[in-house]
Amino acid sequence: MAKFYLTTPLYYVNAPPHIGHSYTNIAADSLARYKRAKGFEVLFLTGTDEHGQKVERSAADSGLTPLEFADNTVGKFRELWERIDVSYDDFIRTTELRHINTVQKVLDILYKKGDIYQAKYEGWYCTPCETFWTDVDEYEALCPDCRRALEKISETNFFFKLSKYQDWLIGYFKANPDFVLPHFRYNEAFSFITQNKLQDLCISRPKSRLSWGIETPFSKDHITYVWFDALVNYISAVGFTGDKAKFSKFWPADIHFIGKDILRQHAVYWPIMLKALDIDLPRSIVAHGWWLVGEGEKMSKSLGNIVDPNEMVNEFGLDAYRYFLLRDVPFGLDGNFSRDLIIKRYNSDLANDLGNLIYRTLTMVEKYYSGKIPVSLNLEFNSVIRNKIRGLSGALDKFMDKCQFSSALEEIWGLINMANKHVEETKPWNLSKENKKEELADFIALLVEVIKKVSAEISYFMPRASAKINEQFLEDKVIKGKPLFPRIDKTKI
Ligand code: MSP
Repeated sequence: MAKFYLTTPLYYVNAPPHIGHSYTNIAADSLARYKRAKGFEVLFLTGTDEHGQKVERSAADSGLTPLEFADNTVGKFRELWERIDVSYDDFIRTTELRHINTVQKVLDILYKKGDIYQAKYEGWYCTPCETFWTDVDEYEALCPDCRRALEKISETNFFFKLSKYQDWLIGYFKANPDFVLPHFRYNEAFSFITQNKLQDLCISRPKSRLSWGIETPFSKDHITYVWFDALVNYISAVGFTGDKAKFSKFWPADIHFIGKDILRQHAVYWPIMLKALDIDLPRSIVAHGWWLVGEGEKMSKSLGNIVDPNEMVNEFGLDAYRYFLLRDVPFGLDGNFSRDLIIKRYNSDLANDLGNLIYRTLTMVEKYYSGKIPVSLNLEFNSVIRNKIRGLSGALDKFMDKCQFSSALEEIWGLINMANKHVEETKPWNLSKENKKEELADFIALLVEVIKKVSAEISYFMPRASAKINEQFLEDKVIKGKPLFPRIDKTKI
């Protein structure tokens, strides 16, 4: 059986999950379900990134040890994944022994190889971002990323020779045009590596300044830089240190899902780390955009505009939430998140298109056939719709292979809308009045076929809705329940 290994970023545990985090995991979940249905042996990995300054500080602020603090937030992530049906196969925490051992082994290999060296660093440092900066405006001394004040530091650290591999990476990019998707993100990473001289990466922090991290094997006075630590998770989880069989089965990863803001770490640092270790690179890195709120603002604690996915699920239900995220914005672009937009999508696509098709079909099967699904004698009845049903899986394959979730859903809705239009044009109530029995049976049997196909294909994106539809459409009869997606009256919210 072919394998499919997909990963999400490891989430920082300094704050509870928000809609942005849930987005990556819902997208990854949909693809994981899809691949499982296609017969792949799927390994879907998610987890948490627990070391570093931010966690150390947040823990201190709440009077907990870093690990106690992390345990709390990890619980919230796990609960959310459970609640929104994220079918991960493995959850890795960077505080687990399997990961710590792997990070230390990786450091040891690279140090012995001469790709990690010690040097004195003097310069600017942004403590909240945990990033060193050169080329800083001395008068301003603000972090180019977060615009907070930089500190001038002088300390001995360990550096990883990114520069040694720059030419190799450029060549790799040229030979692998789908290494980063969408293509405009590939271009962004490619121009970064072709237009800058890569600086070696500082991969340690002195314990005197920060102690919450993985100790380096070559110095008891240093811990590992949190990004170097975190990236290694993708190989820790598949047994790089322990389980050779598992590692050779699942590595390389097929997809690393990430957000656009962590492209450099995944498309530059990580490939070079792997190359230095003499390990294959992941097949692709797929970067999505950001969800913005209000007037296109970033969510942040200080603005108090962070949206809790739990609230959205309470308000609109899980199916609508998952559908909105995957359908409203093409994967890769930024999107606006608002209740109004969810309601709009819900009312038009779920209540109106899908909900209506199901409801009117159930009603007709009950009315004309006392709930028993009629048998069609003419299997060529309406070949246009039949062809669409037959071609749907193939069309979806193409979109899913490129992680174009929105287009995949649009394709499914193409069939739903075709069927609805067919009802409006055929006016089955007239067939019944005119006693055109065969035609009516063909017509209704076809609608049921459409619904069964739609239900199968939406199961990756909305597993619950699909299960509910299947409960209403059995092998040969229907059981009409409550409407799946009752219209939301905006004035009542
Ligand atoms: N810990 C690192 C990742 C290490 S991966 C080895 C990290 N964590 S994070 O919690 O800050 O962010 C995790 C992911 O959430 C990133 O991919 C980021 O892009 C994503 N998002 C954070 N805010 C987001 C939105 N508003 N919208 C969509 N995704 C966003 O970075």
